[in-house]
Amino acid sequence: MEDFCQHCSARIIAYTPKKRVNLLIGLTLAPHGGAFRFMKPEVSHLMATYSRLPIAFERGEGVWLWDTAGNRYLDALGGVAVMTLGHTHPDVVAAITEQAGKLVHTSNWFEIVEQEKLAAAICRVSGMERVFFCNSGAEANEAAIKLARLYGEGKGVNNPTIVVTQDAFHGRTLSTLSAGGNRSIQAGFEPLLTGFKRVPYDDLEAIQEVAANNSDVVAVLVEPILGESGIIIPHKGYLAGIRKICDQNGWLMMLDEVQTGIGRTGEWFAYQHEDLLPDVVTLAKALGSGIPIGACAARGHASTVLGPGSHGSTFGGNALASRVGRTVIEVMERDKLVPRAAQMGEYLLGRLKQVLINHPLVSDIRGKGLMLAVSLKKDIPDLQKIFLEAGLLVSVTGGGSIVRYLPPAIITNQEADQVANISADVLSGLGSG
Ligand SMILES: Cc1ncc(COP(=O)(O)O)c(C=O)c1O
Repeated sequence: MEDFCQHCSARIIAYTPKKRVNLLIGLTLAPHGGAFRFMKPEVSHLMATYSRLPIAFERGEGVWLWDTAGNRYLDALGGVAVMTLGHTHPDVVAAITEQAGKLVHTSNWFEIVEQEKLAAAICRVSGMERVFFCNSGAEANEAAIKLARLYGEGKGVNNPTIVVTQDAFHGRTLSTLSAGGNRSIQAGFEPLLTGFKRVPYDDLEAIQEVAANNSDVVAVLVEPILGESGIIIPHKGYLAGIRKICDQNGWLMMLDEVQTGIGRTGEWFAYQHEDLLPDVVTLAKALGSGIPIGACAARGHASTVLGPGSHGSTFGGNALASRVGRTVIEVMERDKLVPRAAQMGEYLLGRLKQVLINHPLVSDIRGKGLMLAVSLKKDIPDLQKIFLEAGLLVSVTGGGSIVRYLPPAIITNQEADQVANISADVLSGLGSG
């Protein structure tokens, strides 16, 4: 039988179990008697590409979100590593408002002053020299893949091949899902794009072996930390080892920093932990603080490979998106949010370890900056929903056995305490496994 909210007549499709809500420390309880309110239309006209949770958010501020019933949630997901400045950051709101009132979009057929400024800012913090702008992480990687092929063609390589890794996620366009190492997102979309050589992640010997046996390789494309696969952090020296192999073989070192970039790991880019420069770096997510933008940045010879007519994008780096991207970088520099991500990441990791280390269900707690994960000994069905019901937004990967935290860099110690405490309450409620 259908149930309707007595306050607002909306159809109720999910309830917050009171038992769990009572466990919460300092969270606002539902004003509508503990029910999520969500007016889902009888017939959805959306393609069913997402298994959506039955909740819609109406408002956000800092690390907090409010749903349509007024319930408050602590957002430790950050729009999947996008909202590094938190929701409705005043400088971002001002930049969007002011730029929207002046100029949103022209075309890449003309000079775009804001795009030049953002490219300069990206190069300043990354050590790159030139940037191509697009609208998403997948497109940024698509640009990198095209760049590598063109680089190979310039060297006279017949079948330019890019070394990629198992368990990687580079996006869902045909070339990026072919480059990715997750079979589940490839299934049904064959024939996949050829020209990729897959090796295990965090395995330098495997890349050496490819170098010894394959003369068509032109580049390596890797994530510095596997994000979608559950925050898998390689051994220190992995990136430096890849740099060395690329130098020895004349390959481009291309890093997918779509998730790790723009301060998430406690440096502007994860490669800066190892004091090296890749040839190509891709970014998106946090760069636009929710306004879609992607970028493929390069240095040296790689920065001149894509010439006039070789690649393009209607929206890529338009005045609005570029202005917001520049604002994100400026605010992060002004408010020292990159070192803050390192500091708060360490604090949250410590707190998660404190409350969870002896939990019988927990097998590992790890993190680098504000990319953190708790691995469980078994898959828990509906785990993300259980966290949501407890007022905490997280991502759950690994088929239900890895809880991933990607909170904004503006998170306070008290809010980090809440993330840890709610996590402990949720996992306690699940028993020993
Ligand atoms: C490392 C990495 N690369 C690429 C992508 C794809 O980005 P987008 O969804 O913006 O296309 C993602 C998205 O999660 C990512 O984590």
